[in-house]
Amino acid sequence: MDNRNIILIGFMGSGKTTLGKWLANAWGTEFCDTDERIERKEGRTIQTIFQEEGEAYFRALETKTLQELLAEGTRAVISVGGGLPVKQENRELLCRLGICVYLRTTKQELMRRLENDSTRPLLAGGQLAQKIDRLMAERKEIYETAADIILDTDGMQPADMQYALEGFIKQHVRAAE
Ligand code: S3P
Repeated sequence: MDNRNIILIGFMGSGKTTLGKWLANAWGTEFCDTDERIERKEGRTIQTIFQEEGEAYFRALETKTLQELLAEGTRAVISVGGGLPVKQENRELLCRLGICVYLRTTKQELMRRLENDSTRPLLAGGQLAQKIDRLMAERKEIYETAADIILDTDGMQPADMQYALEGFIKQHVRAAE
């Protein structure tokens, strides 16, 4: 599709992994998920890493993962953890890695997708709506400014998003030339 990485950013539950796998399959490129890569390297789940080492340790692993992807010269569709773009250093690395696509999702849709989730430590322990509100207030602008492309995902099927994205990427590439 493009000779740079396509990076999917957005809140937990915005569908980064699902769309990432779909796009990689459609475009015949590799798919990489930073959370999966961290879990594989650490041999434990994100939840266990948070429990045993704390969030700061996990955040350092996210930065290390981006540095490794850059060094490896990966050409892929990459989905990154929802909190990864919060760190300025990571946003700089994302910029160098490729085109950032923000999957923007309404709170209502996020609630629906996350209400039965038990894998995300930052949402554990109830009061999901308040937790989404608090994190979204911190992150909304960060996602929007880190993004080269914003895709509103509510009601969209992967094929619709692929189509929209291909149009955006063509425009983006032309604008950058
Ligand atoms: C996090 C999002 C998660 C995972 C971790 C922290 C966050 O990834 O990296 O639980 O801070 O938003 P997903 O966005 O893939 O759920």
